[in-house]
Amino acid sequence: MSDGQVFDFRTPASQVEPSAWELTCPVFFVGFMGAGKTSTARKLARLVGCAAIDMDTYIERRCGMKVREIFAEVGEEGFRSIETDVLRELSTGEPQLVSCGGGVVLASENRQILKEGGCVVYLKVTAQEAASRISNVASRPLFGNLENAQRVLESRLPLYEEVADICIETAGRGTGLISREVFRLLKKEGIIWQPR
Ligand code: S3P
Repeated sequence: MSDGQVFDFRTPASQVEPSAWELTCPVFFVGFMGAGKTSTARKLARLVGCAAIDMDTYIERRCGMKVREIFAEVGEEGFRSIETDVLRELSTGEPQLVSCGGGVVLASENRQILKEGGCVVYLKVTAQEAASRISNVASRPLFGNLENAQRVLESRLPLYEEVADICIETAGRGTGLISREVFRLLKKEGIIWQPR
């Protein structure tokens, strides 16, 4: 694995609307695979005018491998260790929107970083709906078939709820609508604000 290279994973500046909004802390999107974390974070980034970073993409570029290749090479344990390093890194510095991998809540260390590091938005999804949204299940080594996904999701539900500051039901709703709802709630909580 190549390491130590610096990449810019932000939404390109040209795609970010100039805006008077600012984030007071990092915002982490959590939820099962297929919940819409990455698309919602990207759309919200445009509304706010800030950076959105996808943890899996960050990991893939840092390692020079796809997530499924990392799993094949170093196993889930190896992937989880990289995931914790990256989460710690992204929870510090300039506040930004971070879409996390669905399994980020598994490690208690990660749950601590999420709870202390910023605001956590949990996007709720059923395994059935997630399966219908994921175009390439093979890219998610832990999704498997629907029955497996249902079992994995159920075991993670208490962990998502443990870290969540805000819960959003995604059933039957597009990511545009969801991002606007997250915007409204973050504004209400004072996490998105307009400096004068
Ligand atoms: C995983 C979810 C994936 C990715 C990896 C493991 C999981 O991310 O991190 O395949 O354990 O749920 P997405 O939730 O973005 O698909």
